[in-house]
Parts: sequence; C-alpha cells; structure tokens
Amino acid sequence: MPSGTFILFISSIIISDYLALEAKVFMVLMDEEPTISLQTEQSYPRNSTDDVVVYKERISNGHDIFLESLLHRDSYTKLYSYTHLISGFTIHVESEEVLNALQNAKGVRAIYEDVKMKKLTTHTPEFLGIPAQVWPTLGGADNSGEGVVIGFIDTGINPVHPSFSSRSFRGTLSRGKFKGMCAAGERFPMAACNGKIVGAHYFAQAAIAHGDFNSSRDYASPFDADGHGRQVVHTASTAAGNHRVPVIVNGFNYGYASGMAPGARIAVYKALHTFGGYMSDVVAAIDQAVEDGVDIISLSMGPSTIPSGPTAFLNLLEVELLFAVKAGVFVVQAAGNGGPHSTSMLSFSPWITSIAASVTDRTYINTIQLGNGKSFSGSGLAPPTAGIMHYPIAAAADASLRSTTIGIASLESCQHPELFIPSLARGKLIICTYSFDFEYEAATVTTVADNIKKIGAAGFILRMDPDVGSTPVNGTTMTLQVPGIILNNVQASMALWEYYNSNTIRSRSGQAVIFNARARLLDGRQAIYTDQAPMVASYSSRGPDVDNALLQTADVLKPNVMAPGSSIWAAWSLNSEGDQLIKGQNFALLTGTSMATPHVAGIAALIKHKHPKWNPAAITSAMMSSADVTDHSGSPILAQSTDELVQATPFDFGAGFINPARAIDPGLIFNAYFQDYVQFLCAVPGVDDESIRQAVGIGCPTTRKIWCSDLNTASITVSNLVGSRKVIRQVTNVGGKNETYRVTVKQPSGVKVTVMPQVFKIQENGSRRLKIVLKAMEATRAYSFGEMLLQGSNKHAIKVPIAVYVSTSIGF
Ligand SMILES: *[C@@H]1O[C@H](CO)[C@@H](O)[C@H](O)[C@H]1NC(C)=O
Ligand SMILES: *[C@@H]1O[C@H](CO)[C@@H](O)[C@H](O)[C@H]1NC(C)=O
Ligand SMILES: *[C@@H]1O[C@H](CO)[C@@H](O)[C@H](O)[C@H]1NC(C)=O
Ligand SMILES: *[C@@H]1O[C@H](CO)[C@@H](O)[C@H](O)[C@H]1NC(C)=O
Ligand SMILES: *[C@@H]1O[C@H](CO)[C@@H](O)[C@H](O)[C@H]1NC(C)=O
Repeated sequence: MPSGTFILFISSIIISDYLALEAKVFMVLMDEEPTISLQTEQSYPRNSTDDVVVYKERISNGHDIFLESLLHRDSYTKLYSYTHLISGFTIHVESEEVLNALQNAKGVRAIYEDVKMKKLTTHTPEFLGIPAQVWPTLGGADNSGEGVVIGFIDTGINPVHPSFSSRSFRGTLSRGKFKGMCAAGERFPMAACNGKIVGAHYFAQAAIAHGDFNSSRDYASPFDADGHGRQVVHTASTAAGNHRVPVIVNGFNYGYASGMAPGARIAVYKALHTFGGYMSDVVAAIDQAVEDGVDIISLSMGPSTIPSGPTAFLNLLEVELLFAVKAGVFVVQAAGNGGPHSTSMLSFSPWITSIAASVTDRTYINTIQLGNGKSFSGSGLAPPTAGIMHYPIAAAADASLRSTTIGIASLESCQHPELFIPSLARGKLIICTYSFDFEYEAATVTTVADNIKKIGAAGFILRMDPDVGSTPVNGTTMTLQVPGIILNNVQASMALWEYYNSNTIRSRSGQAVIFNARARLLDGRQAIYTDQAPMVASYSSRGPDVDNALLQTADVLKPNVMAPGSSIWAAWSLNSEGDQLIKGQNFALLTGTSMATPHVAGIAALIKHKHPKWNPAAITSAMMSSADVTDHSGSPILAQSTDELVQATPFDFGAGFINPARAIDPGLIFNAYFQDYVQFLCAVPGVDDESIRQAVGIGCPTTRKIWCSDLNTASITVSNLVGSRKVIRQVTNVGGKNETYRVTVKQPSGVKVTVMPQVFKIQENGSRRLKIVLKAMEATRAYSFGEMLLQGSNKHAIKVPIAVYVSTSIGF
C-alpha cells in the first residue's frame, strides 16, 4: 500500500503522518459516479437536462447522509461536495477519530490531505505573428476565438476594465454551450457579466477553514483584490482582452493592448486569494468550470512543492484535470518560477500543457548619464529629466535634517519627506539607497517617487547598498511618474557613489556644502527591440519532469511549450491591495510563467475556433510539433542560466517557442485519449494497480504493460534507457490532403535512433504508426537531446524533441 503525506491512502501508517502535520482539511473521493458519467464523450458539449440536476443533488445529499450516519454532528464541517468530474467532498475536522471512521467506511475510495497552492500585452500579439497570420483567417481580430470560453482559475477579476468591455460583442453565447452564471457580491455587481465576461464564481471555503481568509482584504466575491501580480485581470486580458485598448500609465501612452483571442469569452473562478490558496478550493473551482462548459482552463498556479506520495500524477488535482481533459477541456498550466534549477517543474502530468516563459524582444532600459561622461543603465519606466541639462546630485542624507529618532540608513531610503531640507533638495537628483528597509520594512519605490515629487526634486537615483548586495527589485517593472532610475547593479551603484563623493565638498563636520556632481536621466519608457529573442527566462522552471518528491524523473517531456512571460503589458486592477509598487494603475508590466500561460490559453482558443472538434491532446500536439527552436536572428534559442546564456534544451522550452500561425495548420497530430492516459499511469514505476483504480475509478488493462514512453505525444522522453527501447507513435493527417512525409533524425549523443518507415504516404484523415527504436551506444549518464523531423510534401514540418538518459548500454 503506497503512503505519503500528501496522498493519504487507506492504511494505518497514514494516521501518524497527518497527525504530525496537524492537518485539518481533507478531500475525500467517493466510489459513486459523478454527473459527467451521464454524458457520453460523443454527446459533449453538455446535456443540461433535469436528469443531471437531479443526479447532482442526489450525490451532494448522499454525501451529507453518509457523513451524518457515520460521524457526530459537531465533529466535522462539510465544505464542498464535488459532483461533476469526481464524486467527493471536502471536510474540515477537529480530531483524528473522524478520519479513522472515514477511512474504514464503505464507499470511500481515497482520502487526500489539503495542500497549499501558490500563485505562480501590447506587444506580444505582433511578436507571435498573430495579427498578420492568424486573425485574418478567423474573420478578423474581434471575431478570433468566437464561441470559445476560457475559464481562469485564479484570483478574481476587476470587471470595470476596458479590456473586458463588451463593445465587440454583438451576440450572446448560446446557453446550450455555456451555462455558467455570475455570482454577484462585494464590488462585483451582476452587470459585471457583460457578454465578454460570461461567468464568475468564488471559492474560499477551505481558505476560511484554514484560517487564512481575511474578509477585509480578500473580498468574498469574484472581485480581484490581489496584487502579487498573477491575477486574472492580467492573465485574462492577455488571453482574451479586447483588441486595441490603449495602454496609458501615468499619462504616457505605451501603445495598445490586445488579447491573443479577442473574440473569446472569459469565465472567472476565483480560488486564490492575497495569500495564495488551497487545493480543495481549486478542485471545487475546476469542477464548476467544467460543469459550466468552459472549453479551456488556464491555471496560473501550482502546488507549493512537489506533492509527496508514490507519484505526482495521482494527486487529486491531477486526477481531476484528467477528467476535465476526458470531458474535452484543454488545460494549460504555468510551469512554475523555480528556474534555472533543473527538476523545478510544478506542473507534471502529460494530459496538461505546461508553459515555460521567455523574455520577449522588447526591453525597457533606463539610462543615467553622469557629468564625467560615464553612463549606466538601470530599470524603471520613468520620464526623462527635463531638457538636456545635467542636474546637481545630492544624497538623501546630505539633503536632510539629522534626526535623533531616525537613523541614517532610514534617511537614505527616502521614506521621510518631512526631513528633507527644501532648499537643498529642490531641483536636485536625490540619491536614495535600496537597503534592508525595502526587504523587511515598509519602504517602497512608490513612496520614494511620491516623496521626490513632494519635495520638488528633479528626480531620484535608487542605488544598491554594496553592504546589502544587489537584491534586485523584484517581480515587476515599475512605471514611475517622476524621473527616476533603479540601479540594480552593485558596480554601477558604487561608481555613482564614488563620483558623487569625489565631487561633493564637505565642511569640517562632514556636512555636504557644495554639490558639484551632475547627472541627467534619459527616457526610460521607450522600448528597445532585439533579435536575440525569444530566450528562455531564467526564472522559468526546468525539466526533467519528476514523478515524485524523490525527484525520480518520468518519461514525460516538461515543459511542453514556451510563450512570452517577461515584461508583459496587460490589464491591472486599479484597486490591487497586495502590491504597493503598482497600486493605482490600469495596466501593469509583469513577469512570470503565470504571464506566459494565458498566451497559450488564448492561442488554444484560436485553434479551437478553427478546429472545433479537436480534443485537448490534438491541440497540445499541434502547438508542440510546430514550435520554433530558433530565435528571430535564426540562431538556436538561448536560455538565461545562473550567470550566462546557454543553448536551450527541451527541458528549458519543451518543443520550443509557440508559433500560432503554424499551430493552426500542423499537418499531422499525435492524439491520445483517456484510456491512453490510464495505460500510461499503469506503467509508472512504483505505482500499483489498486491506487490507480482508487484514483481514476478503472483498473489497469490486463494486457502486456507498455512503457510510459509509449504515450502518443509529440515528444519522446526515455528517462532510463537500458540497452534499447522501442517506442510507438501514431500520427493522424489533419492537413486536408494526402501527403508524403520523409523522416530524418538529429541523433542524441550516445544513442542511435532509427525510425520505420522512413518515408510514408498518409491519406487525408488517415493514421499511420511509426516505430522508433532507441539504441544505447554509450552510457552518457546524462540527458542528451535529439529531434525527429517529419518533412511533408505539402510544406508541413513536424518536429518531435527526443530526450534520453542512457543508464547503461548493455542489455540488448
Ligand atoms: C439530453 O439527454 C436526453 C436524454 O437523457 C435527450 O433526450 C436530449 O436530447 C439530450 N439533449 C441534448 C442537448 O443533447
Ligand atoms: C486583514 O486585512 C486588513 C487589511 O489589509 C489588515 O489591516 C488586517 O491586519 C488583516 N487581519 C489579519 C488578521 O491579518
Ligand atoms: C524577491 O524574490 C526572492 C526570490 O524569488 C524572494 O526570496 C524574496 O522574498 C523576494 N523579495 C520581496 C521583497 O518580494
Ligand atoms: C488520396 O489517396 C487515396 C488512397 O491512396 C486515393 O484513393 C485518393 O485518390 C487520393 N486523393 C488525392 C486527391 O490524390
Ligand atoms: C476529412 O475530415 C474532414 C473533417 O472531418 C472532412 O470534412 C473531410 O471530408 C474528410 N475527408 C475525407 C477524404 O474523408
């Protein structure tokens, strides 16, 4: 019997595990069929007859009756019944006896401990080639994605943002297709569901039970109060924001924002809060989203750590998402922001599309020119100092009154406007110092900018304190109302400090009296474009995919594809509480795999618009097999690593950088269905058939076990090659014509890959099996990478990345 702290299977060992953790909230999976089993795969989209409603209620009431008959009324609170994708419930308990009773009760399939989840564009549509090559084929920008609903499981939404106005919508969605509703509430009126936003719910039962929900901060409504920068406002506008909404921040027009699929609709399922969230709320949100009829689920979040237990693929979230995929819903999830370290993925399963993040070709560089002719670059989207003149520089402490209560270090952080001496500060560039105050106290860059404005200074230079080291200002690129630069670099900060001190004349007592150092700040708001893009962002989580918390690697390629993630302009909630840096802005420039994920959700909507019948695996395959592995200059895509740029591998970017124009016409697809995923699970080392039956409800086929590497994906990963391995793939022609393909292989080092047949003709809509044999030539004891290329006679080109770890070459 497998055991672990995360997946609690029914065994006595488990009891001590959860007691040690003092966990209080558990998800219980029950034996009976959920409502979705009333619908066959063919009858999708959903059948909302009375039958379903009645059955749903029966399941939920059944849970109540089951609990009442088993447990003392005061010993538990049921937080949710899950009824659509799985039958189960979440329960908040006070003592372990309750669980004792539960785990021995008939009808209980598995018990899972609740775990914490973490929250993991003006320019990007052009960067991706969408306006020129994709929108025209779908009836223009405003129509692109029409009829498709994207469900965001995230932190809520600010409904009154221009990116979500209903201006481009003439019709309403048919109720047969989508039957979601808007749950009105605090700051979220019913009218917020305007045709563009078609559904909104919030899920906070577990957050409340765990004691992490703060009602004065985390609105009890779908309204987005978060500010850690990964909220739905931002992500939803990237995927499906309206076309050409001007991005105006602090009075400066940075261009126009468009979502990837401006015609798609948005449904919001708020399950994350300012602090993060819990899996049981997320599971409830996904159950609702699929029941409502979303086509795509976008998850800009993941578990806080790799779940323990025999395999990450069987945690309740993954299992539920497998059922969502079975129901035809495409699921896209952020890879995580744990890069550049390997095995840092927080998105695991082959039925999910996991997204790596790239830096784009646009950067903003802010420049300071010193009076001595030297110049340095830094960050901060700030206006320039007026004119072309150089302004005198004064360090904050030299332009302030000494205080008995406030130390020099605090003065230098520019958080105390009342202490500046107006006659000394006015018209000067003030040097402020980024110190521990910014990390551990309330100091913020926004306050610096506000104070500079208050005292009438010309601008500010935020330098790093060399004693503190260069802790870069995190996460967001800030837009600033006053001239200012953030010198993230210690060398530049030291050079500035030296220049300042050698040009400042001090009295005997050390008081600065004459300020001769001069500088000017250039415009930090102008974008700079580069050809060395896309490039894998350093923070983007890296493969190989891991099977469990022991970091055993799996025969699954993760991430799947890469999309733009760094410095993405998108809609921002004016009332964001969490992040003071960018409070009060309508658009914000954010960074993370959470920003990359909605690009792929939007592109999936475009593919779904073009190919309504394609199932999730077909969409993933189309995206992967058509992805780019070279950058805009034609060189192999690079990856930001710890200190240097290295050539990217499939563990950095999966199949490569997403290419929407080619993804809507891939030529061939690798398809997979529910049974294939179950067969895959049955082949995972160390997982017994019984735990698979408990999780997915059906047992393993009795036929010969296949390898995990046989799952029909547009990638080949063998994590433990001993001698040789035969891998089977099946391609289906979706190119609309008969086509002849020629196979070539870029060999991974230490391995000889042969493919049969080498040339094949495939009929329109026809399928074809390919036999791929990987033979170890030498034990590399490291992953090596190659590629299988299928070059079609009608210009289709299918690229399949190969990743192999040769453990030993003997044994064949
Ligand atoms: C829903 O199912 C019922 C039978 O249970 C069937 O009569 C009806 O046509 C179905 N509706 C749709 C929209 O498929
Ligand atoms: C709840 O949030 C409010 C507003 O942010 C804050 O003032 C208060 O301290 C928080 N309460 C707790 C218990 O964290
Ligand atoms: C900055 O980022 C680092 C690494 O991601 C993190 O450990 C730190 O807490 C962050 N600091 C702030 C102020 O958010
Ligand atoms: C496609 O191939 C099939 C089988 O080989 C053949 O019968 C058919 O005529 C071909 N179609 C075209 C347009 O060449
Ligand atoms: C191939 O499938 C498409 C879409 O289902 C269909 O329109 C077309 O007629 C099919 N072609 C053949 C030759 O079966």
